[in-house]
Amino acid sequence: MKKSILITGGAGFIGSHVVRLFVNKYPKYKIVNLDNLTYAGNLENLIDIESKENYKFLKADINNPSLIDEIFNEFQFEGVIHLAAESHVDRSISNPMEFIYTNVVGTVNLLNSSKRIWKDNYNNKLFYHISTDEVYGSIEDGGYFTEETPYEPRSPYSASKASSDHFVRAYFNTYKLPVVISNCSNNYGPNQFPEKLIPLAINNIKNNKSIPVYGKGENIRDWLYVEDHANAIDVIFHKGKTGETYNIGGNNEWKNIDLIKKLCEIMDEKLGRKAGASGKLITFVKDRAGHDLRYAIDSGKLMKALKWQPSCNFEEGLAKTVEWYLTNEKWLNNVITGDYEKYYDNQYIKR
Ligand code: NAD
Ligand code: TYD
Repeated sequence: MKKSILITGGAGFIGSHVVRLFVNKYPKYKIVNLDNLTYAGNLENLIDIESKENYKFLKADINNPSLIDEIFNEFQFEGVIHLAAESHVDRSISNPMEFIYTNVVGTVNLLNSSKRIWKDNYNNKLFYHISTDEVYGSIEDGGYFTEETPYEPRSPYSASKASSDHFVRAYFNTYKLPVVISNCSNNYGPNQFPEKLIPLAINNIKNNKSIPVYGKGENIRDWLYVEDHANAIDVIFHKGKTGETYNIGGNNEWKNIDLIKKLCEIMDEKLGRKAGASGKLITFVKDRAGHDLRYAIDSGKLMKALKWQPSCNFEEGLAKTVEWYLTNEKWLNNVITGDYEKYYDNQYIKR
């Protein structure tokens, strides 16, 4: 029998890259992708692997504990890689409750189902929780987040992720549930929903719409190509030490305004526009409430202990990402339907 692995949130941005990697690399695993297809979940992300024999999709809500229990009973998962979440800070500011239900309660539902089916035998079992560097707060003294940095979440999104991390550690400590956690920096790449900075800017530049830069564009993020994150998840899932936390980052800090200018240069070239044309679309808008100034990750532990390295250089990664959005117009047009327009108007036009 194949080893059965549950990946939650596999129809989303990062999850779809993780599902693809595992389905292709591990034919001896049965990969079950559980996702309830919120606005951010999109099965088009997985068209290339959907008919593979070792892949199965289940539409289910992690907020439905009895359904989750039934699914765990049926598939007897040996590993869980948990990515399902509400993931956008701006949405968490306007609607925090969704984040508490999915990110906190949903995670605890999965912990409970794992504990229940594994109760007599934790051998070769693992609950791997995917988290974010945002749980550490904003680092403004030039230092880096390490695995020992105290948690100081400052947005409803990061507070919900921090809370879920605490529950995962509490289940390790209290029930000895075998867990591992990783906290990653900002991802970019194909299939990211265009509410996040890079795909939103690509879409706007393409359509000659203004590029909204919050505040003065001075905020700093550490960007990692999504396939590098998926590879780190593979390494941690197979070689990580139970009970440990690993930080994942690209060692690639950019001020938002510099990143947007770089993106404009790449887009001018790809679209055959005059140098500087896209840059004219940059528009400074009202800052995000409680906007964290800087995230910066020290991934030394992961690099040393598990020999992981990011492999994608940022300029190449950005160029590949732009190319992907320009050649996958159908994907983009399908996701920017009525709901996206409503979200965009509320977020950028009406405020
Ligand atoms: P995403 O928003 O693109 O995808 C989330 C997926 O979860 C979607 O497919 C959605 O349908 C699914 N989902 C949401 N609520 C659900 C529910 N109640 N039941 C079942 N499925 C549900 O998110 P992403 O950017 O791919 O992030 C994935 C994970 O990685 C999240 O846990 C996020 O916190 C974490 N993370 C993201 C980043 C980043 O830069 N995007 C960085 C570090 C960590
Ligand atoms: P985002 O992609 O939302 O990721 P996060 O908030 O999780 O880091 O935003 C990245 C940075 O870009 C963040 O500093 C907020 C900023 N930003 C803008 O300036 N304009 C925008 O329209 C968006 C969506 C983000």
